[in-house]
Amino acid sequence: MSAAPRNRIEVMHGVNLSELGRRDRHHYGELDFAGLEKRIADYGRELGLELRFFDTNHEGEFVEHLHRLEGLADGIVLNPGAWTHYSYAIHDALELCGLPAVELHISDVQRREEWRRRSVIADLCIATISGEGVEGYRTALDRLRHELAG
Ligand code: DQA
Repeated sequence: MSAAPRNRIEVMHGVNLSELGRRDRHHYGELDFAGLEKRIADYGRELGLELRFFDTNHEGEFVEHLHRLEGLADGIVLNPGAWTHYSYAIHDALELCGLPAVELHISDVQRREEWRRRSVIADLCIATISGEGVEGYRTALDRLRHELAG
């Protein structure tokens, strides 16, 4: 009997991502949040992945969602928004959850304010994708797909 495919990806959005479409278009583009999730769902289908989506503006909910992922997902694409730069709580929850994760930023965080250059979760992630806009989610999903296949 062949093993079940490891293709379940949790796509997690953190603080202020829900407001996409109202944020600085120079950094985040035109798409609103519903449009973003639709595009990511298209990428998932194209790559043969099973996606689930989670978004919240509450750090504790983000942390608790990571607590509950065991057995429900094989990998994570996460864009925690500004929490990326300072949330040790999310760092620790991601470590606890133990799944392969890719950190994603729509904008190029290395070319913006100094404080955005620091990520407190990067050390736990197999890759960081930044500055590719919405397309970056395709890159991130493909990276995870390779990781899970290997
Ligand atoms: C972001 C970059 C963060 O610095 C910022 O706080 C966000 C979005 C991005 O997708 O480019 O909210 O994670």
